[in-house]
Amino acid sequence: MDQTAQLGAADAPCEIPSHVDPALVVDFDYRQPAGIEDGDVYKAYARLHQGPDMAWTPRHGGHWIAMRADDIKWMQESWELFSNTEKSVPKGQMPPMPPITFDPPDHSRYRAVLNPYFAKRRIEESYQPKSRAVIVELIEGLKPKGACEFVSEFSFVAPLMIFWDFVNLPYDRRDQFLAWGRHAAGYGSAEDRVTAFGSVHDYLAELLDQRIEEPGDDVFTGISQWRNNPRFKHKDEIVGMAELVFFGGQDTVASQMGFAMQRLAERPELQQRLKDDPDIIPAAVEEFLRRHGLSNTGRLVRQDVERKGATMKAGDMVLVMNSLSGIDERAYPDAFTVDFDRGAVPHNSLGNGPHKCVGQHLGRMELRIMLEEWSRRMPIVRLDPDKPAPKSHAGPVIGVSHLHLCWDC
Ligand code: HEM
Repeated sequence: MDQTAQLGAADAPCEIPSHVDPALVVDFDYRQPAGIEDGDVYKAYARLHQGPDMAWTPRHGGHWIAMRADDIKWMQESWELFSNTEKSVPKGQMPPMPPITFDPPDHSRYRAVLNPYFAKRRIEESYQPKSRAVIVELIEGLKPKGACEFVSEFSFVAPLMIFWDFVNLPYDRRDQFLAWGRHAAGYGSAEDRVTAFGSVHDYLAELLDQRIEEPGDDVFTGISQWRNNPRFKHKDEIVGMAELVFFGGQDTVASQMGFAMQRLAERPELQQRLKDDPDIIPAAVEEFLRRHGLSNTGRLVRQDVERKGATMKAGDMVLVMNSLSGIDERAYPDAFTVDFDRGAVPHNSLGNGPHKCVGQHLGRMELRIMLEEWSRRMPIVRLDPDKPAPKSHAGPVIGVSHLHLCWDC
């Protein structure tokens, strides 16, 4: 094992298979990378960029690591070579959640159920006003306080409240769902997390039955009606689909908002720019998305394939590190710096190919409205010097653990 690549890990390493070139082996744990204790998950992960483009680690059952923007895009698009039927690293930890755990052609059938509800026009026309109202209410509530912990008081709450309207859920269960959402995302004990997943599962299973009896025009109604499709096999399919939609839009948007706000708080001139030049906001959204890829998702190698000296065998797992794509200096010069004038550079943060994020228009809209309303309504905010410094966490979806802000009232 390459000593320069001793990156730290928590679980026991496995044997290195004979087809893996020892020069490509690093000791890397994506859930607990060395350097995470310094508080910045991107800096901890970026150590990988000092080694080979395609690496292999013996952690989490042993897996390949794709970390460069070009390799990540290629893998996301090459579903014939890299299957989504094993999404978790290590294997076997994610139940079927259509469409993400299926390959074409099955994938396309499930995806067609979701697509209409996430169409750009529908999002902008039907949900944009409600989403704006949610965000304005939260901001106006915070403004007189002069300080906040942004994750628990804003970025985790806003996406859940917006989703609430999106799927027409009753308001009386909102606090309960907020708690489940936080626990499921890992804010809490391991036991809290398991309980939260179970509770959401049971709740959604019951809700989908109700939506058959009392249909609406929301995505959960669309999902429940999959039962009427001749290809419908089991209720788990529709519950898995509903869970994916529910969780897919929570910690992703919360993390995106948290990282964007951290960058803004560190650099008041960026806040001033948004205030002075609101037309730049759509470009700012893309730049935050580029800088802050969030997901680290698994792919199962379907057939033997070589890439940049790595011999991947059918049955191997690959961790596709979207979180490293946007900070690949080869693809984006000065990649760590947020630059609203970078221009329309493509990024992989919302995926590519068949699994490209179905919620991309909703996610972009939420981020855009946050930037619009925050810069319009709030004074310049800064990191609170009397509170712990910002901290981020690693895992399948990375995120901001806490972000203390303050401002002059
Ligand atoms: C800005 C925030 C978001 C980011 C960064 C993000 C990122 C991603 C990425 C990278 C993928 C592809 C995963 C893969 O290839 O394995 C994906 C898929 C998906 N996302 Fe998002 N997402 C965001 C917001 C949302 C929202 C708001 C929803 C829904 C409410 C959502 C629901 C989904 C679903 C259902 C899939 C699976 C699509 C498929 O397999 O066809 N996402 N997302």
